[in-house]
Amino acid sequence: MRTPLMAGNWKMYKTPAETQAFFSKFLPLVTGATHAEIAICPPFVNIAAAVEAAKGSRVGIGGQNVYWAKEGAFTGEVSAPMLKAAGCTWAIAGHSERRQYFGETDETVLKRAAAALDAGLLPIVCVGERLEERESGNTERVLEAQFNGGIAGLSAEQFAKTVIAYEPVWAIGTGKVATPDMAGAAHKFLRGLAESKYGKSAAAAVRILYGGSVKPDNVRGLMAQPDIDGALVGGASLEANSFASIVNF
Ligand code: PGA
Repeated sequence: MRTPLMAGNWKMYKTPAETQAFFSKFLPLVTGATHAEIAICPPFVNIAAAVEAAKGSRVGIGGQNVYWAKEGAFTGEVSAPMLKAAGCTWAIAGHSERRQYFGETDETVLKRAAAALDAGLLPIVCVGERLEERESGNTERVLEAQFNGGIAGLSAEQFAKTVIAYEPVWAIGTGKVATPDMAGAAHKFLRGLAESKYGKSAAAAVRILYGGSVKPDNVRGLMAQPDIDGALVGGASLEANSFASIVNF
């Protein structure tokens, strides 16, 4: 069966010293957590500190974004081979904040995910509808367009290494978590899209994380949904006790 993945997205928070402090508190709290994989995606400048602090533990480190060229004159970008060389396992692609504030499109999301895979990183590709899209009944249409444009261009072999994160934009950082049923339905729909494109066994194997105001007190209900295979956690991953409670749901 699918091993849950509990991933923390630190966004633009913490210094290297704070990163170190987090890990010294967090690691002892998750030593028994063999039921799940754990990942932390810190800001780029903290990756070295996080990799060092997580050494010998079961916690993998990831980038919050990744550029598709290997190197070159792309000021401000970080490539997949660079993340890999720095000790990363994971790379997030297409987070809604990247889509909203930095012009990310399904096309660039696909390029980032493919570049991550080429470098031996495992991409976490984010999809999710905005509030007005949900309210106008367009959730499935949006998810389908994001899947077709941002994921379905991957080969079957690439897809087998990819994690999908369903993050309704209206639930991110707002405290308004999707109900387990609402999230479960979206996950089921996404798994159906995966099945149409990649077949039954690939769809049964792909992990689909939920993200958007996941907290220690709502994670159990979400994880009880058959199609929810883990969480992508923003705010509640910044504090060791709260992220450990989520990991140990
Ligand atoms: P949140 O963020 O948990 O703070 O809502 C989730 C995310 O953006 O990945």
